[in-house]
Amino acid sequence: MKLSVIGAGYVGLTTAACLAQIGHDVFCAESDLDKLAKLQAGGMPIFEPHLEEVIKAARKANRLHFGSTEDAIAWGDAIFICVGTPPLPNGDADLHAIEAVARTIAKRASGFRLVIEKSTVPVQTGAQLRKHLAVYRSNGLSYEVASNPEFLREGTSVEDFLHPDRIVVGADSQRAAGMLREIYQPIISRTFTCPLHANCPTGREPVFLVTDTSSAELIKHASNSFLAMKISFINMVANLCEIVGADVTKVAQGMGLDPRIGAAFLNPGIGFGGFCFPKDVQAFIRIAEKSGCDFSLLKEVEKINQNRIHEVIEKLRSELWVIRGKKIAVWGLAFKPNTDDVRFAPSLALVKALVEEGATVSAYDPKATEKAKAVLPEINYCSDPYQAARNADAIVIATEWDEFRAIDWNRLKTVVEHPLILDGRNMFNGREVSDHGFHYVSVGRPQVLCGTKATDANDHMSEGLKSYQGLTA
Ligand code: UGA
Repeated sequence: MKLSVIGAGYVGLTTAACLAQIGHDVFCAESDLDKLAKLQAGGMPIFEPHLEEVIKAARKANRLHFGSTEDAIAWGDAIFICVGTPPLPNGDADLHAIEAVARTIAKRASGFRLVIEKSTVPVQTGAQLRKHLAVYRSNGLSYEVASNPEFLREGTSVEDFLHPDRIVVGADSQRAAGMLREIYQPIISRTFTCPLHANCPTGREPVFLVTDTSSAELIKHASNSFLAMKISFINMVANLCEIVGADVTKVAQGMGLDPRIGAAFLNPGIGFGGFCFPKDVQAFIRIAEKSGCDFSLLKEVEKINQNRIHEVIEKLRSELWVIRGKKIAVWGLAFKPNTDDVRFAPSLALVKALVEEGATVSAYDPKATEKAKAVLPEINYCSDPYQAARNADAIVIATEWDEFRAIDWNRLKTVVEHPLILDGRNMFNGREVSDHGFHYVSVGRPQVLCGTKATDANDHMSEGLKSYQGLTA
């Protein structure tokens, strides 16, 4: 089928490339002219594993083209809207880019178009789109509007697109649902050539779930908000573990073994970030508020998340006494590993808080340095983790990049001023780190003091626990 994708961000680019990979003829539009020129010249505006190869192959097969919104609208029988919906100051999603695309479709397109909202939008955006197309159409356009929310994680978006658990389609007519089924059929029946695996993982086929448009829109916001809630929940459990001397990793493992809970998204840390969870939780709160529904549960989720940075700073303060004048190395700037995206990254909030406290910050990230520099020019950016750690009073791990797992601890020990690791992502085993002569502080797990034995009871006892035991003895 001839398909159009409007917007070449993480979602649009992955969608366009993967739809071409499964056999469609795709035209992807981008309004940022620099970005468009880069894509047309074979370059990549973002880092996303496997995406570059998939795009290259699709262009070679003449199944993927990049150009203007107008050309994309003229191209496809179905048009996927994948433009940004950033948060407004009041927490609402800013829908002006979606509205502009809808108006252009209404004015430019003739004949039939299936207009598909893939961007994350508030419930009832589909209904607004329908009205808008009716009001502005001028070329004899006939149309259907459908919702097809994406569940793509940055860093694994190609895998998620080609091997989804579910494909959700919100359609209020058989025709719209039928077209979307046809578009996704190669993925449902696994009949496409997979660029990722010689033998694709076996298992059940993705569920193709058809609902009304409003329910599909809600599925997306409810899913992201639920996952964010899981993270804030485990972060609070981690706080409690620190006080009573329990280990959150074990608590999460025990909880996750219950299939009703599930093990995923129970990793505590410095909080969730990225362009999805923070804005989607905020938008969902606003949607509920505007509908007269008090979803204050989500306000707590947000509050807990915002407090994570304060807690890291307090941990540092309790280790270093005074933060002002100290040199802090921050490892990891991307909001999670395997992406160069720093939007709403907790690492950036952390760095800002450290700078406000008067610390000197040296940071290293394998992929996100350029994007971080653009929004946070005032700190030192380093080309490797050792350079960042030079003369550091503490190393704070903000993103769990695999590269850090291969660190040469002996070399690291020679460059730091004070051997303290504050692992904000619980990526290391504390005993191993302390065996290399570092004092190790993580999240919701017992502190491991350098030079203590594993059997030493104090090893598993935080200051908080000692006072707690004092109180309860
Ligand atoms: C998220 C969802 O997982 C996707 O399903 C969804 O399609 C996407 O948003 C979207 O709306 O576009 P993404 O933002 O790429 O994907 O990243 P996640 O892997 O979900 O991680 C989000 C944040 O939560 C990261 O900062 C991560 O470090 C943090 N996180 C995740 C935790 O702190 N603990 C966990 O256990 C899991």
